[in-house]
Amino acid sequence: MSKTIAVIRGDGIGPEIMNATLRVLDALDCGLDYEFVEAGMEALEKHGELLPAATLDTIAKHSIALKSPLTTPVGGGFSSINVQLRRHFDLYANVRPAISFPGTKARFENIDIITVRENTEGAYLSEGQTLSEDGETASSMIRTTRRGCNRIVRYAFEMARSKGRKKVTAVHKANIMKTTSGLFLNVAREIAKEYPDIEFNELIVDNTCMQLVMRPEQFDVIVTTNLFGDILSDLCAGLVGGLGLAPGSNIGAEAAIFEAVHGSAPDIAGKGVANPCALLLAAADMLDHLGMAEKGTRIRTAIRETLAAGDRTTPDLGGSGTTDSFADALVERVKG
Ligand code: NAI
Ligand code: MG
Repeated sequence: MSKTIAVIRGDGIGPEIMNATLRVLDALDCGLDYEFVEAGMEALEKHGELLPAATLDTIAKHSIALKSPLTTPVGGGFSSINVQLRRHFDLYANVRPAISFPGTKARFENIDIITVRENTEGAYLSEGQTLSEDGETASSMIRTTRRGCNRIVRYAFEMARSKGRKKVTAVHKANIMKTTSGLFLNVAREIAKEYPDIEFNELIVDNTCMQLVMRPEQFDVIVTTNLFGDILSDLCAGLVGGLGLAPGSNIGAEAAIFEAVHGSAPDIAGKGVANPCALLLAAADMLDHLGMAEKGTRIRTAIRETLAAGDRTTPDLGGSGTTDSFADALVERVKG
């Protein structure tokens, strides 16, 4: 069976890491076809907009997109393409795995944490932000809905169950933010009762930060609201060696977009030395989502083996290889 996905080649190092990733996907024989769509600087130059309607239509048609990083031009009042995509498709779950790999400069080994962040509400509303005329007083609004909490917590438990995970930790600040974080915590407690096979744990966000830095092995799946999830998922990426190995997926009921967490790295673009791991790990998560978990695992195993061998990896990982030599090593390994 063949499935078509929308592919955004991206800006800066985007096309280089996407080529490497598609080579590995092709070597796996996933039965995927690609429809390339324009976004970012390429779209701005050709069509005068960062995110053309045709791109949104193609993503909607295939419901799955694999996306390289895009440059959001500074100035000119452009709103972030990622935020636009999230809003347009109501991509309510931002899923960020942090996995230890060998051969990195990470502080910890044996970490395998997935952060599930609510992606549409909480403290990240565009409305309700005010600044008084004299510039002395600013305020903003937090909005939490039962529906929003329900779907994110349920997503986390369903994902935990499908991936054979043992524990879900709900991270909150309900002791201070009694209404908003309190609603999230209450919903999490209710839903947890429906999943007796999965251990449920609740933890206040500041304590969570300390625990993550001191004993990260105790965490499995973390589910939390928008602001806390944004911060905690970067913290977790730092525990396993930084953004070069951090994939992220944005999941909604109608569409899902898989990407690397890092940006377009203009400082190394065109030099052929970008590390393709984060986008490859995003592609592995996409294969899981498409019901091809065995192939997703083959990508992660190939990355693990290549990093352990160390010979053909990119300079950011301490290797002397290139994007292409890294991809060559992965293609050989996934073909087995
Ligand atoms: P960045 O993540 O692009 O780069 C930060 C540093 O990490 C740079 O030194 C870069 O060379 C290095 N780096 C990043 N990815 C790498 C990789 N795969 N291999 C080796 N080194 C890598 O962040 P920065 O510089 O803040 O942003 C650059 C542009 O990217 C901006 O226009 C920003 O708007 C955009 N951006 C896009 C994102 C997306 O589309 N998801 C996310 C973050 C930033
Ligand atoms: Mg962030």
